[in-house]
Amino acid sequence: MALFGRVPLLLALVWSAAHAAGSYVGSEACAPCHQNEYDRHVRSRHANALRPILQSPVANILLHSQQRDAVLHYEAREDGIAVIVALGGEEIAAKLEWAFGAGAQGITPVGRLDSRFFESRVSYYPVAGRLATTFGHPARAENPRAILGLLQSSHTITSCFGCHATNVGAGVDGPDLSEMQRGVQCERCHGPGQQHVAVAKAGGTRAELRTTVVNPGRFSAKAEVEICGQCHRLPAAGDASPAPELEDPVMVRFAPIGLMASRCFIASRKLACSTCHDAHENARTDVLYYSNRCAGCHDDAPKSGSSCRRAARQDCRPCHMRQASVGPYLKFTDHRIRVY
Ligand code: HEC
Ligand code: HEC
Ligand code: HEC
Ligand code: HEC
Ligand code: HEC
Ligand code: HEC
Ligand code: HEC
Repeated sequence: MALFGRVPLLLALVWSAAHAAGSYVGSEACAPCHQNEYDRHVRSRHANALRPILQSPVANILLHSQQRDAVLHYEAREDGIAVIVALGGEEIAAKLEWAFGAGAQGITPVGRLDSRFFESRVSYYPVAGRLATTFGHPARAENPRAILGLLQSSHTITSCFGCHATNVGAGVDGPDLSEMQRGVQCERCHGPGQQHVAVAKAGGTRAELRTTVVNPGRFSAKAEVEICGQCHRLPAAGDASPAPELEDPVMVRFAPIGLMASRCFIASRKLACSTCHDAHENARTDVLYYSNRCAGCHDDAPKSGSSCRRAARQDCRPCHMRQASVGPYLKFTDHRIRVY
């Protein structure tokens, strides 16, 4: 997966200041004082974006996928799933350790062949209820290593963990997972919490409490979008297309890139991800929830002379925020809000 995240200078400074400010304490440490956010977040896909493979539904699906004479063979191990590829007298064995993806649309196993990380060629697509070739992998694989998947450079695999987990370090030849919290946890968005917790426990002032933690809700809409965009992607520096999805249909996958090209975002200067999503829970699926967000800026009735056929309490998405496929089994909502 291409990584074209760009963190603007000011934001980078805020972030590095916050990150230098202390160490990580884990989401459980926030629960006693922020039970509401904790209870919703712990069940969210953010929290489950990375799991040990044996804790993911993909484990059983792989283990029960055996076919007679299969080229690929899976066996349960104490700390993962052994995968054996046998083809034309050649055989290799590796171990799957991690499941990337909470299961909204796809779950991709990641493992190691000797000491190198690879992304499995076989992923699970829950909506279709089947295993299939991982999105982005070549159509053909003719030798055991290719059938296993794609070996990833240490840079790439470090960024995979960096977007799906919290407090991932960069080791010499791959990610340093020794301090990792699995999933997108509180401190991935709010910065390391040790100092904030200490100040709170010592009865610090409101100002002290607020300066020891990052609250994206206090940032401008653009700066908030850039925080989410660290992982959800941002337009390449100096190269924001006015119609990104026309240049490359896969861009629909990257909500900030579409949103930032919308009139709603550009003209209002107020539209942020949190206008329509609560970062502590999954995307809502109820129609009126979103129409009510639109109503925050648009009148219920169209402007005179406009041929918009909206009525109050109507679903705006089919005409202004459609879903689009970016590949087999993968559909995303086009965040470039517009008239089609
Ligand atoms: C001992 C209690 C306590 C713990 C533990 C705690 N907080 Fe807080 N937190 C507070 C209090 C009190 C406030 C101040 C609320 C206010 O602004 O009035 C606060 C405020 C915040 C804010 C809002 C800051 C702002 O600018 O409005 C965020 C975000 C936050 N905490 C995140 C966290 C995270 C993440 C953790 C875990 C790493 C955590 N807190 C742990 C007590 C706590
Ligand atoms: C550290 C990387 C990271 C950051 C920062 C991040 N996200 Fe995410 N987000 C993810 C990943 C990874 C997933 C996919 C989770 C899964 O299904 O496995 C996701 C999924 C989502 C979803 C879809 C959840 C669902 O219903 O399936 C929404 C909505 C979302 N993020 C919004 C946000 C918003 C808003 C922000 C900023 C406040 C944000 N994210 C910041 C990594 C991140
Ligand atoms: C720049 C941050 C970033 C990097 C790097 C990254 N991901 Fe993700 N990943 C996300 C976000 C954000 C989502 C949620 C939106 C989406 O599905 O694209 C996601 C979703 C996923 C999903 C679930 C798809 C779905 O919608 O259910 C899988 C599987 C996945 N990533 C695997 C990987 C693997 C494997 C790598 C490394 C080869 C990787 N990701 C690298 C940010 C990232
Ligand atoms: C994906 C990024 C993300 C993650 C993960 C996340 N938050 Fe937040 N949080 C935000 C954003 C964005 C806001 C500002 C918008 C809002 O208030 O919802 C926020 C606001 C808050 C606030 C202030 C709420 C208020 O009413 O002002 C608290 C407290 C907080 N988060 C605690 C937590 C805790 C505790 C966790 C983990 C259990 C957590 N957050 C996980 C992005 C995140
Ligand atoms: C934060 C405010 C805000 C929100 C929320 C918002 N918009 Fe907008 N939207 C605007 C502004 C401002 C414009 C530009 C108006 C202009 O140019 O006169 C705009 C323009 C539009 C346009 C015309 C686009 C074009 O390219 O000409 C459409 C269609 C639209 N919005 C639909 C929606 C829908 C549907 C939603 C909800 C999913 C929504 N908006 C949410 C502020 C918002
Ligand atoms: C104007 C409202 C609006 C804004 C602003 C918005 N979204 Fe969404 N988002 C939606 C809607 C509508 C859906 C589809 C929900 C459904 O029906 O499943 C969605 C779905 C998603 C999903 C789930 C996958 C998909 O594409 O369907 C992710 C991830 C996501 N949004 C991320 C973001 C991020 C990151 C931002 C900020 C850059 C953002 N959204 C801003 C309305 C919005
Ligand atoms: C059946 C399709 C359809 C639905 C549903 C729909 N629209 Fe529209 N909308 C259009 C069309 C077509 C235009 C272009 C009108 C023009 O250029 O005269 C438009 C234009 C707009 C505009 C820009 C011009 C104006 O009238 O202000 C906004 C804002 C807008 N729609 C908002 C919404 C919102 C909010 C909803 C949901 C409550 C919605 N639309 C539902 C078809 C639709």
